[in-house]
Amino acid sequence: MMQHPLAATANTLVAGGRGLLAMDESNGTCNKRFAAAGIAQTMEMRRAWRELLITTPGLGACISGAILYDETIHQADDHGTPFVDLLTQAGILAGIKVDSGAKPMAAHPGETITEGLDGLRERLQDYSRLGAVFAKWRAVTALDKGLPTTGCIEANAHALARYAALCQEAGLVPIVEPEVLMAGPHTLEQCRAATEKVLHIVFEQLYRQGVALEAMVLKPNMVLPGLACPQQPPVEDIAEATLQTLRRVVPAAVPGIAFLSGGQSGPLASARLNRMNALARTCANPLPWTLTFSFARAIQMPALTVWHGEPSRRTAAQSALHHRARCNLAALHGEYTHSMEPDHA
Ligand code: 13P
Repeated sequence: MMQHPLAATANTLVAGGRGLLAMDESNGTCNKRFAAAGIAQTMEMRRAWRELLITTPGLGACISGAILYDETIHQADDHGTPFVDLLTQAGILAGIKVDSGAKPMAAHPGETITEGLDGLRERLQDYSRLGAVFAKWRAVTALDKGLPTTGCIEANAHALARYAALCQEAGLVPIVEPEVLMAGPHTLEQCRAATEKVLHIVFEQLYRQGVALEAMVLKPNMVLPGLACPQQPPVEDIAEATLQTLRRVVPAAVPGIAFLSGGQSGPLASARLNRMNALARTCANPLPWTLTFSFARAIQMPALTVWHGEPSRRTAAQSALHHRARCNLAALHGEYTHSMEPDHA
């Protein structure tokens, strides 16, 4: 049987026993995180932070791909070596965020539509020339009274599918990221129902737009209660609800699922991913796809706090990043325990 030419890259990203490092924050988001951590919000500080992440010793053993932002993919280290080349030397594939953000959706109060399709074909060619072999597009679904609407879910799913088809045409593996947000008081069950509906509609649109499922990666949320929900169920319930939902809606042809962290702490995200992989190992029906991570906040934030913009704390920050990467790597094998955390006593 003929393999899709991009299937090997998709497999390298998600089926080779490693995960992804999302470091594709827009300048606005990156600056917001810098401001909260007391770090100057300049292009040079953003560059220094991304250089610190990319040059973390041993990162390639845990990370298969790094998702960059437009500013970042054009940047280089202090010696002038492009970030893409540093990633390649570390055995990490370079990817690029190509959506231009979630904007308020007309006639849909409280909801957003992700934009960025105009000129995407040309931009993908440019990014491919710069060395990117995969791309990412994030659509978000908010839960609230009367939300989400089917109109918003469908519009975002259609855009995701058109983006994915353009990526495959350009020779890039699309990471398809439909995120049900954690903000709000909704329950685990409400998130489960919304996630199931969103993913059903996304896969229908991917089919209609001719996207090869073997040559893509799904990046969904875990099924979680809202941050303001008074009932915060144990890791076990979250792992079961997430696996049940994904089994219902994600076709077996998809090589792997790489979760976003969505605002979970590093240790919780690791523990939940770990439980899913541990359950998958023991259940009678094996999962048809791998389960890995594509975290931004849950892998970067401890390191950002340590760094604080100080060159003297660079090595300590890299150790913090490497620690989270190793915890997540252990979670792929069901081998993560809280005793790996420095505060476990
Ligand atoms: P978080 O892991 O912080 O949710 O970010 C993942 C991501 O890529 C958002 O687009």
